Amino acid sequence: MQSLSRRRFLRRTLAAGASVSALSMAQRSFAARPSATNAARVQIDLDRSISTLDRNLFGSFIEHLGRAVYEGIYQPGSGLADANGFRTDVLKEIKALGVPIIRYPGGNFVSGYHWLDAVGPKEKRPRVLDLAWNSLESNQFGVNEFITWCRAVGAEPLMGTNFGTEQPDMTAALLEYCNVDKGTKWSELRRAHGYENPHQIKYWCLGNEMDGPWQIGHIPATEYGSKARDAARQMRVLDPTVKLIACGSSGPFMPTYLEWDQQVLEQCFDEVDAISLHRYYGNDEETGGDSRKYLALNLAMDRQIEEITAVCDIVRGRRRAEKRLWLSFDEWNVWYRARGPKFDDGHRHEAPHLLEEVYNLEDALLVGGLINTLIRRSDRVRVACLAQLVNVIAPIMTNDEGLFRQTIYYPYAWGLQHAHGKALDLVLQSETYEVTSFTSRGNRGGERIAVPYLDMAGTFDEVSRSVSLFILNRDLDKSRALAVLWQGVVPRRVSASQVLTGPDLKAVNGFADPRHVVPQNLDPPPASAEMKFELPPQSYTMVNISI
Ligand code: AHR
Repeated sequence: MQSLSRRRFLRRTLAAGASVSALSMAQRSFAARPSATNAARVQIDLDRSISTLDRNLFGSFIEHLGRAVYEGIYQPGSGLADANGFRTDVLKEIKALGVPIIRYPGGNFVSGYHWLDAVGPKEKRPRVLDLAWNSLESNQFGVNEFITWCRAVGAEPLMGTNFGTEQPDMTAALLEYCNVDKGTKWSELRRAHGYENPHQIKYWCLGNEMDGPWQIGHIPATEYGSKARDAARQMRVLDPTVKLIACGSSGPFMPTYLEWDQQVLEQCFDEVDAISLHRYYGNDEETGGDSRKYLALNLAMDRQIEEITAVCDIVRGRRRAEKRLWLSFDEWNVWYRARGPKFDDGHRHEAPHLLEEVYNLEDALLVGGLINTLIRRSDRVRVACLAQLVNVIAPIMTNDEGLFRQTIYYPYAWGLQHAHGKALDLVLQSETYEVTSFTSRGNRGGERIAVPYLDMAGTFDEVSRSVSLFILNRDLDKSRALAVLWQGVVPRRVSASQVLTGPDLKAVNGFADPRHVVPQNLDPPPASAEMKFELPPQSYTMVNISI
């Protein structure tokens, strides 16, 4: 049941189908040497946009897994904890990041989770064995603590529900407990637990990765689809305003990829608002360790979004329905080293060190590319969650004394802080290089595909009259020139210009050297109708320009 079996499963289906530089990169200003290659060009027309960005595109995820909850966000007894037991350093960090929505409590964990065990007086809550991660769960942190914590960090909850060992009536009971004002069995129980006002949870995930044989209570697509329909109908009677997300394929590596999604939606299209997508990337089997190929993996995310969108729309067409489903990419990240029994078996301990992936510079560059893809696809993707947020495959790591930011923190923070307003429909021309196609799709691989050296996304915020550009330079050897051509407007000034780069793609941060990989200022060109940027090799750049 643990993700160990997911790993083995993944390997099978795939077959079918740091050294740290001594130089600290902190606090240096970067001026790239002029490139000898043909300049890339991008045309920016503020009237051409893809969509208005939903803030929930930059959400995250906290599962009862390893040290994400316990020792991550909740550590009563620690000198860093407040009266609620919340880690104040972590709380401050997440609040400052501005994470808009946080998925909880799983993940694989949710499929064996009984929410009722984790409400009410803490001394009466049972200590149980979590069979997803073979860990001890004290239930000291449950839905009420999570909502209190979410309010403190300024995030909205995205509530996961147990479709593994519970039936739809218990999902409906949870919704009644959380969202009904008063006067009913479950709402009165919440009030008796000290929460007079309803939590008003808007977004709900109907199960987790139910297509996966590793999932507790895994069932066939049609069975899951009718269970989701039943749960959704009950939930909408309790609260017609909720947004419901059906559980889509765990990823393209699944033999039932797309078929699962179609069969599920045939059952519950009318009852749900969205379908979920998941994907973890790695510089291993899929890329053969080739970083040029690795940095192109965000194009596989583009493709996955296209494919799931196509399935949603074919079901829509066949039903002659008006409604268009949106996508919830509610698990995405790099994750490939901290896998297997050593990393995902909790050996019946509380808060074991699980899935503590250490991220390097190239992982951060890919995360930047993935942020670009999400912005470009924001016409259909409304919710997305970087999986996860603290200690478990996370941008933020804690110990008893404090925290540090992993490399992937920075591109994620840029998305949160600078991508506002509308996603721009950029017209980019860039030279390309060739790689063999990605094998996780279950195809034979081996075909050559052309990958642009530069990958870009842009946003325009009408309120602050500013444009943000996010640029990945996949060229590992050379800096690349980019001519930015403004259509019908001349920008006033460059307000911010930063780059994440360095000589060592495998460089990491840690408690010993927490600022080894951090953004540097990039010397920008003066604002004008045609601006020429020099983008360093192996870099991710964020530029904010006032209009
Ligand atoms: O995020 C870690 C795990 O990855 C989640 O529990 C599961 O949904 C996915 O397989």
